[in-house]
Amino acid sequence: MPADAVDLLGEGAPVPALDWSALFARRTALAGNELTAILSLAASRDIITFAGGFPAPETFPVDVIRELTSNLLDADAGVALQYSPTEGLPAAREAVAGLLQDTQGVRVDPGDVLVTSGGIEALQLLARTLVDPGDRVLVEAPTYLGAIMAFAGFEADVEGVPIDEDGLCVDELEATLAQGRPPKLLYIIPDHQNPTGLSLSEERRRALVEVCRRHHLLLVEDVAYRELGFNGSAPPSLWSLAPDMVVQIGTFSKIFMPGVRLGWAVGPAAVVKAMTAAKQNSDQCSGALGQMLMARYLTGGHMARTLITARALYQRRAGAMLDALTAHMPEGVTWTRPDGGFFVWLTAPEHVDTRALASRAARMGVAYVPGTPFYTDARGSNELRLSYSRADETDIDEGVKRLATLLGEAG
Ligand SMILES: Cc1ncc(COP(=O)(O)O)c(C=O)c1O
Repeated sequence: MPADAVDLLGEGAPVPALDWSALFARRTALAGNELTAILSLAASRDIITFAGGFPAPETFPVDVIRELTSNLLDADAGVALQYSPTEGLPAAREAVAGLLQDTQGVRVDPGDVLVTSGGIEALQLLARTLVDPGDRVLVEAPTYLGAIMAFAGFEADVEGVPIDEDGLCVDELEATLAQGRPPKLLYIIPDHQNPTGLSLSEERRRALVEVCRRHHLLLVEDVAYRELGFNGSAPPSLWSLAPDMVVQIGTFSKIFMPGVRLGWAVGPAAVVKAMTAAKQNSDQCSGALGQMLMARYLTGGHMARTLITARALYQRRAGAMLDALTAHMPEGVTWTRPDGGFFVWLTAPEHVDTRALASRAARMGVAYVPGTPFYTDARGSNELRLSYSRADETDIDEGVKRLATLLGEAG
């Protein structure tokens, strides 16, 4: 039977599958499937995957979670297993406020923290709150493809601003702002950026805030990898430099676990309030069980302890990947050197089509994400993202070797 036919009566008489796609809303055509494709590799055992930004399972605090879950079910099952307030449980909001105070030196009122279902929901809420069809939204080029999808899904006109070794090129931003309609916002990942692993220098952070203040441009700062630096403290967060004009979006997926799907948003009160209202139209509330676990995990000092070993693990894996790239890659291939986070960004000679090569790579047992989905235009066809976070050192060497063979043949 053809794949698009169904045997409704179980009598071997195939009926053509009904086609519902004519009913789809216009925005459905805007949704890519890149993230679904990456997540589908999450459970794969027979491929070395450098594709997703998956945290290493070794960092999951299984014993602590077991104990905390048991304690909180004994003490507070009525709250943990119930619906929760849209803005988040008080204990979770307080825990986030405490984390921000400890790591960014800013005291925020817990009442001004919005708890979200992961970083991606925070982005969705922000886009839902701010973006009308045709609005101009600026992002780094390249940037997190989930953010491009969130803004494009609300029909924004998403435009990339170049980055270099020191992060976003602020002079290029000024040039972009001098032309066309004023953008609604600029989305940026200042620390160990997805997909390049590069960070925004302190000098540029200050220059960026100054330019945005002058142009009355809202900054959206995504701090997904901020706590995963290899070499001590990061430069000040943009939100700590200008809390009145920066919405900060964070996620617990990389520093706790994605299994609870939790994140946060803080920033100008009016924006966070509107995002809270938007959440009523999304999932209404984030899961209480995960929020209570996260709050107890943070206030019990477990996160600070686990992060020390997590950073060391990711640093070893990053080192293994850089060593493997140096050892195996053919002439003409270059890559970034991250000092935190999960990613290395690789540039092959211009004629190499990394999207076309991805299926050959998968047949050779190695997966990566091709470069183009990280851009808002046609760029990136000879680039690709490698994540070292979930593969062990032996697999990293073997996977890079396979990729090098492929790129050698393509070059
Ligand atoms: C920069 C960035 N922001 C947000 C997210 C999404 O976070 P979450 O998985 O918590 O939705 C990711 C995930 O890969 C990311 O890389």
